[in-house]
Amino acid sequence: MRLIDFIPKPYSKTLDNGSVTWSSPSNIALVKYWGKREPQLPENPSISFTLSACETITKLNYTKRENNGNFSFDVILNGEKKDAFKPKIDTFFKRIEAYIPFLKDYHFIIETQNTFPHSSGIASSASGMSALALCLMSVERSLSEVEINELFFTQKASFLARLGSGSACRSLEGPLVVWGAHQEIEGSSDLFGIKYPFEVHDNFKNYQDVILLVDKGQKQVSSTLGHNLMHDHPFAQERFKQAHDNISALKLVLEQGDLDMFIKIVESEALTLHAMMMTSKPYFILIKPNTLEIINKIWSYRKETGSKICFTLDAGANVHLLFPEKELRNVLKFISTELVAHCENGNYICDNIGLGANEL
Ligand code: DP6
Repeated sequence: MRLIDFIPKPYSKTLDNGSVTWSSPSNIALVKYWGKREPQLPENPSISFTLSACETITKLNYTKRENNGNFSFDVILNGEKKDAFKPKIDTFFKRIEAYIPFLKDYHFIIETQNTFPHSSGIASSASGMSALALCLMSVERSLSEVEINELFFTQKASFLARLGSGSACRSLEGPLVVWGAHQEIEGSSDLFGIKYPFEVHDNFKNYQDVILLVDKGQKQVSSTLGHNLMHDHPFAQERFKQAHDNISALKLVLEQGDLDMFIKIVESEALTLHAMMMTSKPYFILIKPNTLEIINKIWSYRKETGSKICFTLDAGANVHLLFPEKELRNVLKFISTELVAHCENGNYICDNIGLGANEL
């Protein structure tokens, strides 16, 4: 796939108005994307589990209008107009205009809602941008004379989602998605995410993710700012190489079901991500004392019980607990007796690995 393949031929059909609705989940990276170059291309490949319960549902209403050279849209979150979201969507529309040429021909009402609380510290950009990209692709499909096949539809939607937020391109399919070219993963690309193309061991079927909400506040440092600090980061090149190596190692782990090695790679990736933040200029710290308390308790619990639970982190203080489904009952007990005390207002979200977005 080349960039030019995503530019559509002139549309032959016209549509006066209509609406489309998609739900799209969040995802959690096992090997992290941290560092990007224009236009939103990753400095290293990443791989993520697609989530299931944490998702965004977006209804895109469109009405034909006179093209006056501007975008025209409103954003409604949980039934309330949200002008604060408009600049982000405006930037997104500018980035994708060449690939979605009908954007200025319609007024859009983007009605969106998340199944997770807005102020949970869980980023809604991955689920939100992927849901919106899919809605736009559904409109494009209705405008096109030529049949858009499923593969192209998903690839282009992922390509568009990436231009909204990098990690969003990994939310369309599941259970595992790779974004970024990697030598051992055929079809992988910097332009869009692809479904992990190999068999995965039964040990990873229906893997669980419990998200411990340590800090529900707004992020102090945006992901985009953090990514950009990798530009002249002293450890950048080593880090990018390490991500390639970790994906190679993880490939074997996923094939063989080696849970001990899985733990080592995933926890090291999480800590490396935060180590990059702590060693950039300017440096910053997103983990909180409670994040560390939880990590230490996980390590003790593993030692005492032989559990295969592990943690990962995104760009914040919350902790994702990853573990096999058969441990669910015991882990929930562990959370309620030991970990819940470290969550803000005792809040956590139970999720598991899912298969991606759906048209509703
Ligand atoms: C730490 O995708 O939120 O979650 O491309 O600037 O929108 P932008 O960044 P974003 O970065 C996510 C980074 C991460 C790791 C990951 O998901 O791979």
